[in-house]
Amino acid sequence: MITAYDEPTARYADAAGVDILLVGDSLANVVLGHRDTLHVTVEQMAHHVRAVAAASPNAHVVADMPWLSYHVGAAAAVANAGELIRAGAQGVKLEGGAIRRDVVRALVDAEIPVMGHLGLTPQSVLAFGGYKVQGKTRDAAKLLVEDALVLQSEGIYSLVVEGVPSVVGTQLTESLDIPTIGIGAGPGTDGQVLVIHDLLGLTNRRPAKFVRQYADLGSAITEAVARYAQDVREATFPSEAESYANPEELLD
Ligand code: KIV
Repeated sequence: MITAYDEPTARYADAAGVDILLVGDSLANVVLGHRDTLHVTVEQMAHHVRAVAAASPNAHVVADMPWLSYHVGAAAAVANAGELIRAGAQGVKLEGGAIRRDVVRALVDAEIPVMGHLGLTPQSVLAFGGYKVQGKTRDAAKLLVEDALVLQSEGIYSLVVEGVPSVVGTQLTESLDIPTIGIGAGPGTDGQVLVIHDLLGLTNRRPAKFVRQYADLGSAITEAVARYAQDVREATFPSEAESYANPEELLD
């Protein structure tokens, strides 16, 4: 699974053969310049889901339910998830454990596939006091497994596990029948997810420990734009070949 927030990225990632495109609420910090994921709305998420769906990807498209879109009651959560489904998502992802059981049940009852998300849940950044690895004690790890089992019993079809020691990622995977997808959860989960801007070298922050950067597109963009600006300043762009032909009568 990889994140995508717009049509071209979805198209290129889909062509690479990924199984799932996640329109993550990381949209907030990765694309829109906010400091955390608490700053996107259902409307903004739906806007980007529409762009990703416009690529008609073969991959399964999942949309993150943004902060507060599922915290104020099951009926509101169903309506908000419906917006994301109508925008083109085939499933929604939400953060939290047993505390979300009623919401998960209501969504599943409304025929909306739900992906869970446990561990270092970014929407809890203020409650956690920062982005801190979770599940580091035996009790905390046990609680994560209990939460995961509750979510599974309410009908989630997959679980993202973020920012936990690798043994916890493995233990969660072994405790569940549904597939787990890890990010900073070690190699023992069924699948992996990364934010595409991290993978491509397009961020302005120090990558987290779990990121593997596969390209340096940030430098490639700066270099390409610098060459363009230089060509314009030196009047070598556009060339004749890059200009429309002049009709004879205009030359007269
Ligand atoms: O919003 C996001 O990007 C996520 C991660 C799991 C990658 O939820």
